[in-house]
Amino acid sequence: VSAPVATLLVERAAALVTVADGRPGPFAGPRQGELGLVADGAVAADAAGRIIAVGPTAAVRAAVALAPDACVLDATGCCVLPGFVDPHTHAIFAGDRADELAERLAGADYLAILAAGGGILRTVRATRAATAEALVARAAGFLAEMLRHGTTTVEIKSGYGLSVAEELKLLEVARALAERGPQTIVATVLGAHAVPPEWRHAPEGYVAQVIQELLPRVAAADLARFCDVFCERGVFSVEQSRRILQAGAALGLRPKIHAEQKSAFGGTQLAAELGAVSADHLEYASEADIAALATAGTVAVLLPGAAFVLGEERLAPARALVAAGVPVALATDFNPGTCPILSMPLIIGLACLRRQLTPAEAVVAATRNAAYALGLGDDLGSLEVGKRADLVVLDAPAPGHLPYWFGRNLVRTVVKDGRIVWSS
Ligand code: NIG
Ligand code: FE
Repeated sequence: VSAPVATLLVERAAALVTVADGRPGPFAGPRQGELGLVADGAVAADAAGRIIAVGPTAAVRAAVALAPDACVLDATGCCVLPGFVDPHTHAIFAGDRADELAERLAGADYLAILAAGGGILRTVRATRAATAEALVARAAGFLAEMLRHGTTTVEIKSGYGLSVAEELKLLEVARALAERGPQTIVATVLGAHAVPPEWRHAPEGYVAQVIQELLPRVAAADLARFCDVFCERGVFSVEQSRRILQAGAALGLRPKIHAEQKSAFGGTQLAAELGAVSADHLEYASEADIAALATAGTVAVLLPGAAFVLGEERLAPARALVAAGVPVALATDFNPGTCPILSMPLIIGLACLRRQLTPAEAVVAATRNAAYALGLGDDLGSLEVGKRADLVVLDAPAPGHLPYWFGRNLVRTVVKDGRIVWSS
């Protein structure tokens, strides 16, 4: 049997972070901090962009044949990790809300601004007025910035259209972004992000429109993989959220949910009841909520950037989630209202400094577990033979430097599907 041919070899890494231990599934409980470190590590990929060997440099060199035009990267002194997976963003929008920040700093409440027709609804007005082309161009710029911070897979939600036509427009934009690459883009329909002004006095009519028209159109055109709801006081009730998520699930759109962000409201229990792939935010999650997630096997996606920007004093119970065996993932929540952060390293820093995750747990949360929060854990998110060769080379010798150099961008090189897509 001849050795597999490598078109990419990254070798001599001071620390190769595989985030793998040979077993499938997200890393929960004691495994949450399992980095699968290899000293003097290497990873090789084939022309199809898949990992064909990973381990100590000498072993990888011996296991593969280098293609004549192979790209060989010397990672001496560097740390190599799986490309970051950002499993929760709202990256398609127009306009900005800089003056809303000033209002909030002066004491205005986020949900009160929304109830008065601002907040999310202000972004909806700007986004409806924008062409699909303009939205693609703007979001492509954000994705390029994410790439420079090491993010190779991004989930993007609709949710600033809030009508059948406008939500479809946003999901078409997401599809166009996926076709442009280089990142893997996963789309989520968030028609239930807020009640649009046309339905302000008849919110049930909007819920019916989402269930009867929007979700079937999205599923028929294969425009999204997931269905999400903003389940919150004054936005969508648990009962409305249940109907929307069940309707989506019946069409093959797996449930996700914005739960317990601003109040203890019941979204987390609903996530567990429906077997949601993830429950996101969770600042106000209780012990019973945590136990329910553990039983359901739902991934907890923490968004410390949004809580930080909103000045939320209540912190998501990261340690209790890990202790209960709930797989914890991290995401930016990048959006124009609650989180301008699009750097996963910065989110890793916040998770360590403000949520008491260890650096190792936070790295697992931003890679392997984030991939499982998108149902993609068997395809990417860790450095294992057969998975996509998506990886980041850091200008630092160990992953603990990510939270330590808080606010700096240590990313030197980004590889997606076996090809260098960015280099500093
Ligand atoms: O995850 N909470 C709801 N959705 C976003 C914010 C969207 C916005 O304010 O535009 C979030 O925080
Ligand atoms: Fe969000």
